[in-house]
Amino acid sequence: MSATDGIPDPALVVLVGASGSGKSTWAASRFRASEIVSSDALRAVVGSGEHDLDASADAFDLLDRIVAGRARRRLSVVVDTLGLDPTMRRAWLALARETGLAAVVVRLTAPERVVRQRNRERDRSVPAAVLTRQLRSARRAMAEIDAEGWDLVVDVVHEPEALPRERAPRPVGRPATPGATTLERSPTGEPMSGPAERPARGDRDGPEIVLQVSRFPWGEDPSGWLRGVALAAAEAGFGGVALMDHLIQIPQVDRAWEPIPEPFVALGHLAALGTSLRLGTLCTPVTFRPAGVLAKAVATLDVLTGGHAFVGIGAGWWEREHVAYGIGFPPAREREDLLESAVETVRALWSAGTKPYAGARVSLPETTCYPRPVGTPQILVGGSGKRRTLRTAARLGDACNLPSDPAALDVLVPLLRAHCADAGRDPDEVAVTVLDVPAVGRDREDARARVERLRGRAAAATYAARHHAGTATEHRDRYRRLAESHGVRTVFVAVPDLSGPDDIERLAGLVP
Ligand code: UTP
Ligand code: MG
Repeated sequence: MSATDGIPDPALVVLVGASGSGKSTWAASRFRASEIVSSDALRAVVGSGEHDLDASADAFDLLDRIVAGRARRRLSVVVDTLGLDPTMRRAWLALARETGLAAVVVRLTAPERVVRQRNRERDRSVPAAVLTRQLRSARRAMAEIDAEGWDLVVDVVHEPEALPRERAPRPVGRPATPGATTLERSPTGEPMSGPAERPARGDRDGPEIVLQVSRFPWGEDPSGWLRGVALAAAEAGFGGVALMDHLIQIPQVDRAWEPIPEPFVALGHLAALGTSLRLGTLCTPVTFRPAGVLAKAVATLDVLTGGHAFVGIGAGWWEREHVAYGIGFPPAREREDLLESAVETVRALWSAGTKPYAGARVSLPETTCYPRPVGTPQILVGGSGKRRTLRTAARLGDACNLPSDPAALDVLVPLLRAHCADAGRDPDEVAVTVLDVPAVGRDREDARARVERLRGRAAAATYAARHHAGTATEHRDRYRRLAESHGVRTVFVAVPDLSGPDDIERLAGLVP
């Protein structure tokens, strides 16, 4: 979740400014109450009220413990004190370093006359002489902060009769030269916003977005639910719908007794809607159906969709569903062999005519497969990064489906390209596609609540980071970046808590 305008999340955010400079107002407009730790509020907790200065020592003691507790759990925390004491700032900076949070200072300034007037208008004003000292020490602090080593310094300037205006946050530690090209990195490796932010390039609309449906909470109306989801996805602008292909619901998604339909039957149902959605599976384990039967199913789907079928195919991984359904589950190497020969068989059966086929692994006395596909159904070879699968994708696939993690793509995409070169194929012929499992909220608060429901035993911050918890638009931006950085052409989006047709609206921002 990116908290606000360039401030990474999670971050340890220290507010700095004289009394009345607008610190608490700014914090409340940007952060949840539970993320803000205020010395005034804690004075009221341990003392008689926000202005009970006798309670300061106890209040700061509590403040330190709360800030440290949240930081150790890698939860964002905003320290709402005057922030004028350099020793305290150093300690918070050290805590951020120790816990790996982004260290951020927000400097709040307003013309002195404005601060004084606001102070006079408050219920409990700070004595004028105290405010004078604060303003002097604030000027000194503002200057010192640049050299303290914060990851990010945000300046918030309040002007009379105007809403707070935020200047572009500026990473410190380098001159703010226009056109500077070095990028400061946040602890998560994302470039911080700032003047040197990378310009957008590549396809302005980003990659194709296909909805992958893996859960089917369809209640009493399976066909209505499926139709509704597909129609809403088409309406929202998704490029297609992919169904997961498993015999038992997988533990990563839901409980074993939740329904999971046979995908080709269900896709046939969706084909009848006559939308322009691409329809297919992601991914079909090669072990489930003889390759020829798979070729027949996909060809039929292609005919029924008017040339919009695709098929994701992988080596299969889950032994339990094979054993339970009486299907063989040979060792990994054999499954990889099977994958290679299956793709070869499917292609042979789809090719023109009925002539015999003799290929590297497969020989068929005839290739009589009618109906033939009316389009050219895309064959995506899925393999969560197995080297052998990448080679099969490079040799025989139209696409290779990979995890969406950029660090994994850094390794796998060049490997795929190298296999393409070995196989004498133009790398452009093999599209890079990814499966992404985002936590999508209507807003930041909703994203947080969903993380809380979905996280299982994972820590909230870990789950949020792994699933990039945020709004649809934030995910969309991330997908654009994947297209730019790794040439990703299609993102299969598996929304873990998609409840049904009405819920697609929440995802509308994912597509252009
Ligand atoms: P804050 O209460 O936000 O200031 O605003 P602060 O920096 O946190 O002050 P201390 O350190 O806790 O004392 C002070 C007053 O200024 C008004 C607020 O409504 C509040 O009454 N204010 C703040 C504005 O009128 N405009 C602003 O942009 C910000
Ligand atoms: Mg305040």
